[in-house]
Amino acid sequence: MAYIVIENCQDCMFTDCVEVCPVDCFYEARDTDRMLYINPNECIDCGACVPECPVQAIFAEDDVPEGQKQWIEINKEKTLAGTLAQITTKMDPLPTAEEKKKALGL
Ligand code: SF4
Ligand code: F3S
Repeated sequence: MAYIVIENCQDCMFTDCVEVCPVDCFYEARDTDRMLYINPNECIDCGACVPECPVQAIFAEDDVPEGQKQWIEINKEKTLAGTLAQITTKMDPLPTAEEKKKALGL
């Protein structure tokens, strides 16, 4: 199993999650997909990142909500392709972050 970043992250990228990950398994697609992904081969299922996300964008694979299950495969494909940069320190959220957060009702 692994933890999965779902659509809520897109257009947000608050990046609080990356600061707590003990194995640095987050990868960023800021300029293309406008979100982060978790490498499922590196994630150790610690769950530390989940409460850090202000838009509830991270779920254990088994708990990914209906309608968002496609992100399980997308996280895998995007990170295993080897083209994304690892991200280990917090960066500024995207300019659209607060608007997206509001749209999510959070
Ligand atoms: Fe990192 Fe743990 Fe989150 Fe996996 S569950 S991405 S190891 S903080
Ligand atoms: Fe995205 Fe939440 Fe992390 S918005 S960058 S999963 S803190």
